[in-house]
Amino acid sequence: MPPRPLVHIVGAGPGDPELLTLKAYRLLQTAQVVVHDRLVGDGVLALIPAAAERIDVGKTPGGPRVDQAAINRLLVRLARSGRRVVRLKGGDPLLFGRGGEEALFLLQHGIEVEVVPGITAAFGCAADRLVPLTHRGLATGVRFITGHCRAGWWLDLDWRGLADPATTLVIYMGLAHIEEISRQLMAHGRDPATPALAVQNATLPGVREVRAPLGHLAAAVRAAGLEPPVLFIVGEVVELMHHASTALHNLKSLAPCHG
Ligand SMILES: C[S@@+](CC[C@H](N)C(=O)[O-])C[C@H]1O[C@@H](n2cnc3c(N)ncnc32)[C@H](O)[C@@H]1O
Repeated sequence: MPPRPLVHIVGAGPGDPELLTLKAYRLLQTAQVVVHDRLVGDGVLALIPAAAERIDVGKTPGGPRVDQAAINRLLVRLARSGRRVVRLKGGDPLLFGRGGEEALFLLQHGIEVEVVPGITAAFGCAADRLVPLTHRGLATGVRFITGHCRAGWWLDLDWRGLADPATTLVIYMGLAHIEEISRQLMAHGRDPATPALAVQNATLPGVREVRAPLGHLAAAVRAAGLEPPVLFIVGEVVELMHHASTALHNLKSLAPCHG
């Protein structure tokens, strides 16, 4: 009996190709067709062998949308063709990545699915910017939320719970609505002085960051002109290592050269 058709849904991590898992790398090397998103870094795409077909189904924010239903149908068609198919998604496929919808559709159409986790943007940003998402005495928990909502809808989040000062907030896709998100958090009790951080292109050479207390975050981000992809981290942990790390760098640049 021929093997059942299978799609590997693979996390590409936040951009730096060195953050790929070994399993993701191995699957890319043997793939015959790779269906990828816009947020998959160029360095990762460069690892796809030239012989493999590459299909870009990326969606640009505000730009033309690639219909999710069409992507689902494409994956089924490719899997049934008998080729080794990798569905490559930015970060982790099962976190704000619609990987769950694709996996469900494939399973419902008799296609086997293997999911390979990836380093999500939250972990990429946290490591890149030296922010511990939890820290004894500062943050007992962390919540990942989306700041995206469909056009004409309003952000219906658990604002009271999100205002808990002992919780670090990580906000994906929040750039368009950061004014509203900050306003709601403060209206529900989050201190406007809470440290906050916006990171564009974490783990990539063009990384940019904006740091500001929550009350000034939106204005600071607009003034800096940050562009997607941007991830926000809000909480006391944001400033924990920043001063020590800046002081160390300043010290190094002042140190006399020997030898
Ligand atoms: C559609 S979500 C995909 C999340 C992805 N599945 C993950 O686990 O990271 C896209 C959002 O992820 C965040 N993001 C992804 N890569 C990023 C990066 N390199 N730097 C900053 N934010 C990033 C941004 O908030 C962006 O709007």
